[in-house]
Formats: sequence, C-alpha cells, structure tokens
Amino acid sequence: MHIDVERVHIDLAERGYDILIGAGLLDRADTYRDLPAGASAVIVTNEIVAPLFAARLQAALANRFANVRLIVLPDGEAHKAWPTLNTIFDALLAAGCDRKTVLFALGGGVVGDMTGFAAACYMRGVPYVQVPTTLLAQVDSSVGGKTAINHPRGKNMIGVFNQPLRVVADLDTLDTLPQRELIAGLAEVIKYGPVADDGFLGWIEANLEALKARDKAALAHAIKRSCEIKAWVVARDERENDLRAILNFGHTFGHAIETGLGYGVWLHGEGVGCGMVMAADLSARLGLIDAAYAQRIRSVVERAGLPVVGPALGVSRYLELMRLDKKALAGEIRFVVIEAPGRAGLRRAPDALVAKVLEAHTG
Ligand code: NAD
Ligand code: GLY
Repeated sequence: MHIDVERVHIDLAERGYDILIGAGLLDRADTYRDLPAGASAVIVTNEIVAPLFAARLQAALANRFANVRLIVLPDGEAHKAWPTLNTIFDALLAAGCDRKTVLFALGGGVVGDMTGFAAACYMRGVPYVQVPTTLLAQVDSSVGGKTAINHPRGKNMIGVFNQPLRVVADLDTLDTLPQRELIAGLAEVIKYGPVADDGFLGWIEANLEALKARDKAALAHAIKRSCEIKAWVVARDERENDLRAILNFGHTFGHAIETGLGYGVWLHGEGVGCGMVMAADLSARLGLIDAAYAQRIRSVVERAGLPVVGPALGVSRYLELMRLDKKALAGEIRFVVIEAPGRAGLRRAPDALVAKVLEAHTG
C-alpha cells in the first residue's frame, strides 16, 4: 500500500522545522536535500539500531557530506547518563569534528535525547537531525527539543531545550521493533487523546488492534495526529512555562516507577501507561471528571497491553520520588490532571488523596 509523505511543521519562527512522516524516507536522498551541507555528518546510534539502519543512512547522507561517521552507543535506558554522553564528545573530538558538523540521532528516545543534548554542548552547539526508529520517538521524543540524561535521583533531570533541524520518521523502521516496544510507544499516542483531543481517543479505541498489528495506514495517522497535537502545544509553550506540561500526563507517577525500580526495568511507555491510569483516577477523585472517564482511560491502556498496576514501592517512596519531579514547586508536587475529556491542567493534590490513588493502583 502506498503511504503519502506527510509533513507537520513545528512553528517556532527561525527555530521552526518539519517532521517528515512516511515509508522509505530513510534511504531517499531528497529527505536530506536542503539540510546544511557541513564538512561531516555524524550518525549517533546504538548497538541494536546500527546493524539495522546505519549503513542505509550513511549511504543516503554520502551525497551531501564529505565524511559520514558513526558513533555506536550501548543500548538501554540505564546508559542515558554522563559516561555515555562523554563517549559522544570523545568520539567527536577524536575525529576532529568542527562546528559545521551535523549530528544525526538514529534510534529511539534514549539516543535522541542524548544526541540532542550532545549537539547543544559540543563546541557550544552544532545542528542535529532526529531520525526516530521507535514509535515512542516518532510520536513524542524526537519532536519539541527536550533533551536530557537521567540522574540516579530522577528521570531527565539534566538537560537542555534544543530543537532539531528536522525529524525524519520512516514508518518502515518500525517493522523490526519488538512488540513490547511498540506497545510502550502506544502509551504516548494514547496520552494525546485525554489531554488535547477526545475525538482522537475515540479513534485510538477503534483502531487499537490495527495499531498493535502495525497496520501502516493506522500507524501513519497515529503518528501524524500525535505530532500535530505536539506541534500545537510546543509552538505555544516551547519551554514548558505552563501549557506544555499537559504532555506529561501520567509522567509524574510513571517517572517515579522508572526511577524507583531502576532505569530500564519498566520501559518509559509502560510507566506512562500505568501513570495515566493513576493520574486519571486522581482527576476523578478531585471531582474534575466522572469515574467513567477515568475507567475509559484505564480500559484503553489495558487493551493496549500496558501495565495498569504499579509496583509496590510504598506510598512514602512514591511521594519522595514525585517531589523531585520537574513540575514540582517548592517541594509541592503538581500533577497533570484531566479537567474535562480532551482537556488537561496542572493541580496540586493532598498527599492523603494521592496515597489513596497509589493504594488503589499498586500491587
Ligand atoms: P529506547 O530509545 O530505549 O528504544 C527502545 C528499544 O528499541 C531499545 O532497545 C532500542 O535499541 C530499540 N530499537 C530502536 N529502534 C528499533 C528498531 N527500529 N528496531 C528494533 N529495535 C529498535 O526507548 P524509547 O521508548 O524510544 O524512548 C524512551 C526514552 O525517551 C526515555 O528515556 C524517555 O525519557 C525519553 N522521552 C523523551 C521525550 C522528549 O520529549 N525528549 C519524550 C518522551 C520520552
Ligand atoms: N514529552 C513531553 C514533552 O515533550 O513536553
């Protein structure tokens, strides 16, 4: 089946850029046509993704750059940390890369977040392109310029905002993605419904089986609509003064799970899925939405194959971890809650109420 190439623009004036979404984009020279032609391009990827796609991207970039080098990182969330970031700097310096070097982040959110951070720092900033190869990265992490590494005390605590030059989301790269990773990506797709577009939530509910079966047309629509919503939010609040926080629905609970268990035990999307169930219940307990809407969110998360019961870390440990969330102010946790179907906001909640939520959704 032929899938048209879709283009979603992130409207940030001189820092604006396009997200290209389509099948077979990775190999097409015109995907990269109007990027600045630097002396060298450096593909930053990992040990899983490199054998799958690096040679093809290298070949496509060879038309435009004199040198196309490769940096291969270890795989996994546990490596989203300083030592791995340093290996990028070591390799760039060893290769004599100059300020016109363009970095290409080829991989999932871990590679994308670290490459974007490295690009912001290397020689005080070089340009970079996102080439996301997981569903999660195509619908969320490659878009919007948030870059970071984890700290042992908290997820994504050290980082910068740094917008890419372009995002290239090739649907065909998802063919090799393990099913658990595809499902983790669905968590970030589902998120966009309750926070911004209740009609999209209905579409996801109706097309969940097609998405899980990797139907290309369904995936293309899910990625495009997710990117459109993200583009709308980022254009209004690039640096998360307020509105952009809605994209963190489920993340306060989810990040606590990821950090509490140790990075990589639960996938990021799994934490977000379970976190959305908790945040939806909190919204209902705060009287913002009906229990039935919270149940609807729980049901779509469960049908997607995501966990809906969190690990038994203990209420006080959850609260301790969540007080370190980046949305917390003066030690007070602020949760992304659903205020009405398709609309979200930030609220504080009494610890006792949060404890009830945790008791109801941890095992
Ligand atoms: P990931 O980068 O760890 O990728 C998941 C796994 O799939 C890895 O083992 C990877 O090597 C492998 N992989 C990647 N592409 C593949 C392919 N096409 N075929 C086979 N295997 C492939 O995880 P992720 O879910 O992509 O990203 C999660 C990360 O993204 C987290 O660190 C999270 O904090 C971050 N994130 C950032 C933002 C943001 O706005 N910057 C948003 C959401 C999530
Ligand atoms: N993933 C949340 C954000 O980009 O703001």
